[in-house]
Amino acid sequence: MDTIIAAEPVAQINKQFFADVINGLNSIPKKLNSKYFYDKQGDKLFQEIMASPEYYLTNCEMEILTQQSADIAASLTQQNTPFDLIELGAGDATKSIHLLQQLIREGVSFNYLPLDISANVIRHLEDHLPNELPKLQIHGFTGDYFDMLDQAVQFSSNRKVVLFMGANIGNMLPIEAKAFCIKLKNSLLRGDMLIIGFDLKKNPKEILAAYNDSEGITKRFNLNLLRRINTELNADFILDDFDHYANYDPRSGACKSYLISLKDQTVKIGSNILHFKKNEYIDMEISQKYSKQEIGELMTDAGFEYVTNFYDTNHYFVDSVWSVK
Ligand SMILES: C[S@@+](CC[C@H](N)C(=O)[O-])C[C@H]1O[C@@H](n2cnc3c(N)ncnc32)[C@H](O)[C@@H]1O
Repeated sequence: MDTIIAAEPVAQINKQFFADVINGLNSIPKKLNSKYFYDKQGDKLFQEIMASPEYYLTNCEMEILTQQSADIAASLTQQNTPFDLIELGAGDATKSIHLLQQLIREGVSFNYLPLDISANVIRHLEDHLPNELPKLQIHGFTGDYFDMLDQAVQFSSNRKVVLFMGANIGNMLPIEAKAFCIKLKNSLLRGDMLIIGFDLKKNPKEILAAYNDSEGITKRFNLNLLRRINTELNADFILDDFDHYANYDPRSGACKSYLISLKDQTVKIGSNILHFKKNEYIDMEISQKYSKQEIGELMTDAGFEYVTNFYDTNHYFVDSVWSVK
């Protein structure tokens, strides 16, 4: 039976957010979409996660960007024509700024078009990046990946280079990642390029620790979505009645985060009543890990061809450069 979503009296609520939350929490198992993690507080908590000792991903990709930006720039500028650098889910751009600096140093002609679902980060980038990089041509887009990509590709007639870093692709199931890459390829033209970051399969304990940090920042990051639902959708989650649980399956490469209800409880979201059983889980986020072979298969299946790979010293992470066939 279809879930009936009661109309909400609160005029200013984000209708899509509301519908996704109600549908997700009425499905079996209960689910919330991790793209909603990123409000102002979520952005701040994610920065804390990136700075935590366990979250190796940022250091690895930062090493690639700081040590190899000249080579990355060279792989993008072989055609020697202006391009639009479209960054999907740009976040605070602390890593991509090294590539931007390199391109500016080399006098390359490009526009930087960051897009992100968090209005807060796009505002921040548009306010701050021009101070750090006065020569940067920047135009931000706030919204979901493909809604904004459709607009960003119209920005100019330049060729496109899409930047999709931070292993954001890992927040999709492999089947969704394949559909995403196919859609991305279909939004681009022959010769356009993609730089895409993957977290590679490695020691399971190291992977799990990155999503289960000792200071509990990841727990607060997950619980923040319940707080956001309380504030923006007029709900009454009691955060202490939920705990965070993460696990990693080395066979599938899926690292998953859950919130666990610590008791039988009822939560109101607007006029919707939701029941949680003791120990029932909410599926919060996947962070999929890839082997080199799986990355190659994804690239080929989606219709891209290999240009080059940039690894950190430990081969924990790869930024892979593809072009549209
Ligand atoms: C894990 S952070 C990574 C940020 C950045 N790429 C980096 O490497 O540091 C994910 C970013 O993607 C954004 N994001 C997540 N889902 C999105 C979606 N569906 N559409 C647009 N942006 C999204 C989030 O707001 C967040 O800023």
